[in-house]
Amino acid sequence: MKILNKQIINDVDGVKITQLDIFAPDIATKGQPGQFVMLMVSEKGERIPLTLVNTDKTKGTLSLIFQEAGFTTQSLGKLNSGDSLFSLVGPLGHPTEIKKYGKIILVGGGVGIAEILPVARALKNVGNHVTTILGSRNKDLLILEAELKNASDEVHIMTDDGSYGRKGFTTDMLKELLRKDKYDMIYSVGPIPMMKRVALVSKEYQTKTLVSLSALMVDATGMCGCCRVTVSGEVKFSCVDGPDFDGHGVDWVELEKRNKVYSLQEKHICNLFPAA
Ligand code: FES
Repeated sequence: MKILNKQIINDVDGVKITQLDIFAPDIATKGQPGQFVMLMVSEKGERIPLTLVNTDKTKGTLSLIFQEAGFTTQSLGKLNSGDSLFSLVGPLGHPTEIKKYGKIILVGGGVGIAEILPVARALKNVGNHVTTILGSRNKDLLILEAELKNASDEVHIMTDDGSYGRKGFTTDMLKELLRKDKYDMIYSVGPIPMMKRVALVSKEYQTKTLVSLSALMVDATGMCGCCRVTVSGEVKFSCVDGPDFDGHGVDWVELEKRNKVYSLQEKHICNLFPAA
């Protein structure tokens, strides 16, 4: 679990996004698009889930991209090439269903853009027409544009301030596309409010929509119940039943509430123990 390469993808406006390439041949061999790993930076740290952005079976490596948001991601950001993680478990979760749907739209926002990349590549490889919508606050915060252009038939970029692409939200472009044409599937990863809006818009157009949920996780084996979400009235566990779910069935209000439950404690920990 040695870090072979570290690349700071972005470090602007207080948003730091980093890529780590890690030697983990067993996970790299089996990992599929949509799956994730659980990692621990140190023995006494918490476990955090991160999506597999890339796997190289020949080299035995996998790539993770994360934004520093709390104590653990800040600690992870302090590691360098040559350092090792305390633990890395995976691949976990169900892979995204890769098949020929026809015309699909991928919607990625913020660091979620990294998570749609492996799915875009896989869906394109099996013959889908892939339209990708990328959203960020501004031009400087946009990541992986070139990689997603390679993996898509068309790419639309939306920025909140209009500094690049079009000014507006990803859902503005989504509405425009759905008004003009029929699509067979939408896949979205990003902040919860964005995925919620994507699901609301696509419901109007009765288009199947999958969302990859980043619920709070502890053990990632279906035992603790921490990552539970309600989908179409049924309780599901993100770690073992997901992370992809039908966006039209997700109880978004519950998910938003549950994901904020520890934000105060997280702030306290960051203040008490700034990442070394
Ligand atoms: Fe414990 Fe999913 S993280 S049940």
